[in-house]
Amino acid sequence: MTKRELFLGIDSGTQSTKVLVIDGRTGKALATAAEAYDLIPGLPPGAKEQHPHTWREATSKAIRLALKSAKAKPGEVKGIGVSGQQHGFVPLDKQGEVIRPAKLWCDTSTAAECDEMMAKLGGLKATIRALGNAVLPGFTASKILWLKKHEPKNFARLATILLPHDYLNYWLTGQATMEYGDASGTALLDVRKRKWSEPVLKTIDAGLAGQLPRLIGSDQPAGQLQESTAQALGLPPGVLVSAGGGDNMMGAIGTGNTRPGVITASFGTSGTIYACADKPVVDPAGEIAAFCDSTNRWLPLLCTMNVTVATEMIRDCFAWDVKKLDATIAQARAGAQGVLLLPYLEGERTPNVPAGTGVLLGLNQRTCTPANLARSAMEGVTLGMNYGLRRLGELGVKPTQIRATGGGAKSKVWRQIMADIFNAEVVTLKVSEGAAFGAALQALWCWKNQQGEKVSITEITDQFVQLNTAETAQPKPENVAVYQELQGLQDELSASLREVFARHRPLVLKMGQA
Ligand code: XUL
Repeated sequence: MTKRELFLGIDSGTQSTKVLVIDGRTGKALATAAEAYDLIPGLPPGAKEQHPHTWREATSKAIRLALKSAKAKPGEVKGIGVSGQQHGFVPLDKQGEVIRPAKLWCDTSTAAECDEMMAKLGGLKATIRALGNAVLPGFTASKILWLKKHEPKNFARLATILLPHDYLNYWLTGQATMEYGDASGTALLDVRKRKWSEPVLKTIDAGLAGQLPRLIGSDQPAGQLQESTAQALGLPPGVLVSAGGGDNMMGAIGTGNTRPGVITASFGTSGTIYACADKPVVDPAGEIAAFCDSTNRWLPLLCTMNVTVATEMIRDCFAWDVKKLDATIAQARAGAQGVLLLPYLEGERTPNVPAGTGVLLGLNQRTCTPANLARSAMEGVTLGMNYGLRRLGELGVKPTQIRATGGGAKSKVWRQIMADIFNAEVVTLKVSEGAAFGAALQALWCWKNQQGEKVSITEITDQFVQLNTAETAQPKPENVAVYQELQGLQDELSASLREVFARHRPLVLKMGQA
């Protein structure tokens, strides 16, 4: 029997790390494994942190499990690709040790540092001129300034700045690198030139350039599996590790979004909608992120911070399992009798409302039912994503079909809600874990090119990424009309409460902690 050529896709997310083993000849997913973890408990509201060692341990366990279930022989593994939650700030000291837990993409506690940086740059417009992006809470840059201001002793030890997937690459290979896709989410990179922006670095610290790792192209290897980590994983040293990327960049590859015209919507803890582009797509209002992708192109992207985090909150309230949540939501009518959730639980990025909280509108004795409450969560987060989808449309990225991925895409009732709110056909993929699949495919791409086989990422995705046509949802005109009205209501509610959120944040925080 000829030896198999296996590739590992690692997706290190906010709630778990998943590992997917694929056969490089057929693109077939052979095995998956996952390890769950939590955020660090007991932090002040808005602060969201995890220790990078948690990701490392989960990755190690999940790799061993996945290799076992694929019955993989060590020599069969040819490449590893890593996808990670974007934007988290991993501070390393001179010895390469983690200085403190990483502040994550969903951390909204650095809004003041964002304001300070943008003011120093001359305001929003000047910031977008320098970076292509605004400096928003969630992105990495303001977290570094936060460290300098709030933990000067830790800042004094800072030698290297990494992102979550870079940290895993560093553990795998011993090399500190950043590829363009994930680097574009730092708000330190001028995405048009793919270079660090000197004026932006200066708003944080004069020494910052020396703490940023080497930038590499997305087709380049991050390195090779180092001896110590190879031993811990039961793999031979020297296995190729590709550049990897942020989870959305890898999700783009895993959903075949590697040519202009395809749109992916990811329904995970966060909600993202993105499209591959041959040129940077810069939003003058800074609402759509002008990221690079992880195939050496660009990825205009909208991100809302509250998606399954809101549906899971409601599920927990009623102590339902996922099946019961879906079945109950299916009993309520489209529009949940006017019960509408503004889902900014601990702040939101798009629109930029870091002081926001969740708000329910439309409650009375007739409408306050478990089914309406649950449906309003699923609808509210999807309407929130549609706010950004319309903004993408204004920038010229218009969908006729949307490829849905992430946990939320597994729900039939949700897929119908997506089709009705986005007013577009919604399809899913045969391999539902888009980011892990994309990471494995990027590793395959890198390995083939390193072997001298010149192949484009689009050729690989065209060959291996397949739609799951059995799950397609078409918009229903009567529901589309209901949601268009609710969209107007949610937009207005959001705009009119911004002032209130900002002014009363201390009160809300105080009551929430009591
Ligand atoms: C995108 C973003 C999130 C995280 C989730 O900008 O912040 O989608 O990548 O892991």
